[in-house]
Amino acid sequence: LPAAPARTRERFSDAGRAARCRTIAELRAAAKRTVPKPIFDYADGAAWDEVTARRNREAFERVTLHPKALTDVSAIDLRTTVLGAEIALPVIGAPTGLTGLQHPDGEVAIARAAHAAGTITTVSTMASCTLEEVAAASPAGRRWFQLYVMSDRGLVDALLARAADAGYEALMLTVDVQVAGVRERDVRNGFSVPPRLSLRTLAQGVTHPRWSAGFVANPRMVPANLGWEGSATATLASAVNRSFDPTVTWADLADLRSRWRGPVIVKGVMRADDAARCVEHGADAIVVSNHGGRQLDGAAASIEALPAIVDAVGDRAEVYLDSGIRRGTDIVKALALGARAVLIGRALMYGLGAAGEAGARRAFTILEQELRVALALAGCPRAADLGRDAVS
Ligand code: FNR
Repeated sequence: LPAAPARTRERFSDAGRAARCRTIAELRAAAKRTVPKPIFDYADGAAWDEVTARRNREAFERVTLHPKALTDVSAIDLRTTVLGAEIALPVIGAPTGLTGLQHPDGEVAIARAAHAAGTITTVSTMASCTLEEVAAASPAGRRWFQLYVMSDRGLVDALLARAADAGYEALMLTVDVQVAGVRERDVRNGFSVPPRLSLRTLAQGVTHPRWSAGFVANPRMVPANLGWEGSATATLASAVNRSFDPTVTWADLADLRSRWRGPVIVKGVMRADDAARCVEHGADAIVVSNHGGRQLDGAAASIEALPAIVDAVGDRAEVYLDSGIRRGTDIVKALALGARAVLIGRALMYGLGAAGEAGARRAFTILEQELRVALALAGCPRAADLGRDAVS
């Protein structure tokens, strides 16, 4: 019966596994089954009591939509313009470090998925793939580079030069990792970079064979752009605290602004006064973000912080939002409250962990389909036309 094995292959292929997930929550459940617990927890977890991570979700739930009746929604338009060029969907890939732990294709898979969806990918300083690898794997799409300012300023200069050479369009400076947030799941799991080989990790490997096969064929254990290969095992927090510069201030933003030729985006802004100051320092865009609750636990939900920041910035810079986007309706709420686009972190991590590039593509597709229906039901066929009257 030759048809049966083909059907079976399809069922167990990444494409088949991805297609069976209908929501971001289902991608999360599939990732939880597929990758070892410490790796799932690294992506899923947040700081201390994870209050802010939960608040991100609860705050979206508290926003009420006010649908408009009797509007023609036969043609839904998801396009928007960011930094002067159009994207097909107002959803951008957030920068994530050590993405290759979820699946060895890491940032390459995320970039291809983002570009297939007609949008932008952001590659982290802590990425598992090199800046050049991602550029070569998906040369035509838009790519942004996310910078953490390291104490070794020579390394920062080298990263900026590499990003410019490899065609990264914008520089995104993340400002909410003055020191590493304390993610207690990582502490409990003994999560380290590179992963430590112990009986416990070996057992995790044996019980997650799909993940292990990828890992053994192409281990992506440390950040690829920082020259950490061969360095001693350390917790991620201690490695971050050793290399990131805690003295970074507004003067560094001004300095980066003067040295980077393209647009500068500041990520991790949660206060209207800081947002205004970013604009005064020449920022072209701001990401309202609490890092998905992974840094200061107890901070506000980003959707709560958004309206005041939008008011403070006006049309002097673009405002994007991340932290807690799991549904198309979350995107509607963020756009209605003044964000031009949203970024997604964990939604892509779950997709990647569940089914590699096919899973990352699935995450974009799920959000796109949900956004289409939500806009129709909200009586607002053009995503870019959403305004504050749509929510309360
Ligand atoms: C992140 N985030 C992040 N941000 C950043 O500027 N540089 C980075 O290297 C990382 N690394 C990282 C790793 C992982 C596993 C996660 C989940 C997140 C934060 C990220 O860009 C984004 O702000 C949040 O993920 C948004 O929240 P959601 O979408 O995950 O709820």
